Amino acid sequence: MSESISTAWQALANLPKPRLAELFAADPARLAKLSARLELPEDGMRFDWSKTHLDDAHIAAFEALAEAMDFAGRRAALFAGEIVNVTEGRAAEHTAQRGVGNAESVARAMGYHSRMAAIVEAIHRGAMGDVKHLIHVGIGGSALGPALAVDALARDGAMMDVHVVSNIDGCALEAAFAACDPAATMLAVASKTFTTIETMTNAESVLDWLRGSGVTDPYGRVVALTAAPEKAIEWGVDETRVLPFSESVGGRYSLWSSIGFPIAIALGWPDFAELLEGAATVDRHFLETDGAANLCLRAAFADQYYTRLRRCQTRAVFAYDERLALLPDYLQQLEMESNGKAVTAEGQPVDGPTAPITWGGVGTDAQHAVFQLLHQGTNLVPVDFIAAITPGDDLAPAHHRILLSNCFAQGAALMAGKPSEDLARAYPGDRPSATILLDALTPASFGALIAFHEHRTFANAVLMGINPFDQFGVELGKAIAKQIEQGGASFDPSTEALLAQAGIA
Ligand code: F6P
Repeated sequence: MSESISTAWQALANLPKPRLAELFAADPARLAKLSARLELPEDGMRFDWSKTHLDDAHIAAFEALAEAMDFAGRRAALFAGEIVNVTEGRAAEHTAQRGVGNAESVARAMGYHSRMAAIVEAIHRGAMGDVKHLIHVGIGGSALGPALAVDALARDGAMMDVHVVSNIDGCALEAAFAACDPAATMLAVASKTFTTIETMTNAESVLDWLRGSGVTDPYGRVVALTAAPEKAIEWGVDETRVLPFSESVGGRYSLWSSIGFPIAIALGWPDFAELLEGAATVDRHFLETDGAANLCLRAAFADQYYTRLRRCQTRAVFAYDERLALLPDYLQQLEMESNGKAVTAEGQPVDGPTAPITWGGVGTDAQHAVFQLLHQGTNLVPVDFIAAITPGDDLAPAHHRILLSNCFAQGAALMAGKPSEDLARAYPGDRPSATILLDALTPASFGALIAFHEHRTFANAVLMGINPFDQFGVELGKAIAKQIEQGGASFDPSTEALLAQAGIA
């Protein structure tokens, strides 16, 4: 670790740690300093980080750390399409999908998007016949983004009924079969590598189901979404229905590419384009704003404060919006697969904790299930609250008022606490939270919300000196599962006994 980096961490460690209430009392401008509005083309969103322990001194020290870590240089390299994924020798060009970044990559992405828009619009016009259902098979980054976006944005009437199926457990696919008419179903096979066993097995089973239901040309119903187009063609997809994207788009950063096909199918191309533009607004903000005024970097400062200086092992996200119920799952992959690492980008052991465990749920449900621990447990858990001012429902306004009141009440209660001589009823308070308040959940604000988290994740990685774009930790389990499938290999006594008991050995 360079001297400037250890000096910055030492300075941070030496700072006093006042309580949140003291921070508000000491600085009347605190709210103005730590909350900001991001304007989107038609609406906006508010980011309130004032209920975290960041203060002027911490911000200055974190800015010094960012400088020592060459944050500006790493960010420029990301957007320029340089090899930032050093272990795999790749760029990370998700922003190019939104039209921001290296000109050549943007042009390539726009070319792929035109092709995708043409196919989406042709399908909507009936070019593939009377298609009412789309079964999208994919897993991890090839499923979580589409599932989240469709669930969040297509509730008011999708242009097509979309089912995202990821698990190899046949129960997942059977649920989709039960909901779809095979004569009016198409299949999207989403896999960056076009080799993932769960996806390819599920895809074969959808073809069998179509065949078994009397569909004579099941491959004629298939669209492939992949960075390995030659593999999709070899598997049987007609070249005209292969929608490629670049190798340099990481799986968990890929909903903006052709992996977003089911989003465009459900919402229509104009809404998908709006989603991309919302994300691009955050890209430009992230690229052009320095220091803690950069909302993604500021959030990463708070994340580092809690993970490294307060040793918090988890961080929680609660969406007070049923439409964002899948957001914690999505963020789990984004953050834990990106930053759950133990080595630096230079291949050296890290000298502190990296990604905390991301978890969460929806409010108000979670209040009645897990908030006990947040208020009175011994683990300090920084919480993000996410809500929208405009309701997503048409019921009496009482529903939304109660929803938002509870959201804001929880942040206030976590911070204020409540002393009591009866310890069982005492709330220690001083528990941090941040709030992201959307004017409305729209394709643009959704895109901005996800892009904010992508850049926050990247900023965290830069501050820790790690590469967020590889994921070697997922490979060993896959290799062992393959050995089990193939037979002949031996394992530890526990695994052998489980295999024998299940009749797999
Ligand atoms: O196993 C992890 C992973 O490689 C993820 O990073 C990825 O999003 C997912 O599997 C699916 O991979 P693919 O899109 O290549 O099928």
